[in-house]
Amino acid sequence: MKIIASIPEMLAASRLARGEGKQLGLVPTMGALHLGHLSLVQAAKKQCQAVAVSIFVNPTQFGPTEDLAKYPRSFDRDRDLLQQEGVDFIFAPSTEEMYPLEATAWVTVESLSERLCGRSRPGHFRGVATVVAKLFHIVEPHRAFFGQKDAAQVAVIRRMVRDLNVPVEIVVCPIVREPSGLAMSSRNAYLSTEQRQSAVVLYASLKEITHRFQAGERDAANLIAAGKKVVAGEPSVRLDYLEIVDPDTLEPMQPITHPALVAIAAFVGTTRLIDNLPLEPQ
Ligand code: PAJ
Repeated sequence: MKIIASIPEMLAASRLARGEGKQLGLVPTMGALHLGHLSLVQAAKKQCQAVAVSIFVNPTQFGPTEDLAKYPRSFDRDRDLLQQEGVDFIFAPSTEEMYPLEATAWVTVESLSERLCGRSRPGHFRGVATVVAKLFHIVEPHRAFFGQKDAAQVAVIRRMVRDLNVPVEIVVCPIVREPSGLAMSSRNAYLSTEQRQSAVVLYASLKEITHRFQAGERDAANLIAAGKKVVAGEPSVRLDYLEIVDPDTLEPMQPITHPALVAIAAFVGTTRLIDNLPLEPQ
């Protein structure tokens, strides 16, 4: 496994692999790896002959009051985990390597970037789309692997790839959960034991909504009200949003006539967590 910090070295290594006729997979991450990340790596290993994992805590997707400085970093552990998975390249650049002074070019996916997490985190998806576009140029993968956990991120990246004719196939992998139902997240490391229990309410509210949906309820407002009631049962959890949206446009859907997504974001203490489930009319 090669650990690469420089952009020209990464580009040369991936071109060499492509030149050998290998399909190249990229798994973009911010490190502090858990089983959710590793499931993407395993999917990439299955579908590609060479796999690159990027580890870069991207400053441009954090707001000024967000957790950039304290975001968990565990490079040595991440490296060992990726070695065990048989990854070929870790791309771990510095901030200076990725963002030259006075970088002023951005990738903005309009309208989508203001929905769901984009509404509560202004500028977040501009940072995500920009860094992912840069990673696609630096690694030139055939396929890139993303988690359904960040459903709005998937919609933004898919739209960027479609609108800008980026020659990368986007593969989306299912959400990996703790046995309790809590979606795995690097930010779960911030939670106390008690908070970890309270955080299960996010998944519980989504389950409540999917049960009612499967029982025939198609009115989004009724479903959201039922989900909010579940969240309200856990006073230490503060809801950011609970919405039923079209998975491609992220626009609210009412009534639910075609496959939709129920998505939630909530603060447990100061930690912001997200989760989602599909709603599929039979
Ligand atoms: P990060 O939060 O590290 O997540 C990296 C990838 O792992 C994302 O595609 C995310 O959806 C996926 N992932 C996280 N938790 C998961 C889970 N429980 N199950 C399945 N997949 C999961 O998302 C980012 O980093 C950044 O925004 C990035 C795309 C790297 C750009 O900076």
